[in-house]
Amino acid sequence: MISKKIEDAFNDQINAELYSAYIYLSMSAYLNSVDLNGMAHWMKVQAEEEVEHAMKFSSYIVERGGRVKYKAIECPQEEWASALEVFKGAYEHERYVTRRINDLMDLAVAEKDYASQVFLQWFVSEQVEEEAHADEIVKKLEMIGEGRHGMYMLDKELGGREAD
Ligand code: FEO
Repeated sequence: MISKKIEDAFNDQINAELYSAYIYLSMSAYLNSVDLNGMAHWMKVQAEEEVEHAMKFSSYIVERGGRVKYKAIECPQEEWASALEVFKGAYEHERYVTRRINDLMDLAVAEKDYASQVFLQWFVSEQVEEEAHADEIVKKLEMIGEGRHGMYMLDKELGGREAD
């Protein structure tokens, strides 16, 4: 059986993961609006991954005999100044999610909940990748600057992202 503290914290994380999906969908919509459809596709795939993360938490809560509770999702930002600002925002958001996962791990350790520590380990590793992917795109966009050809090529590359 899962403790009430872990159940509440994991339910909050479901909300945070769904908010992540929402913010990436909003980024995708912005990128579509400035004709960067490949980058918009990349963000949509990212949003789908976030929904999967939320579902991992919900399945785990059920498996441990807890109760899943869905809460209101905050309204995401709608506008950005450029693709670079979008991906900088995504990188900062992933750093925030990493801090949240680390806090959950601290809680699981404090509660002596070994099963939750093992469960969270997947997210600890996932966050390393999530941060690295967003950071890599930020660096490429910084390299490209105002270059239209580079932008076209990167948009094409990111449009090829497949769901994991
Ligand atoms: Fe679910 Fe991007 O962390």
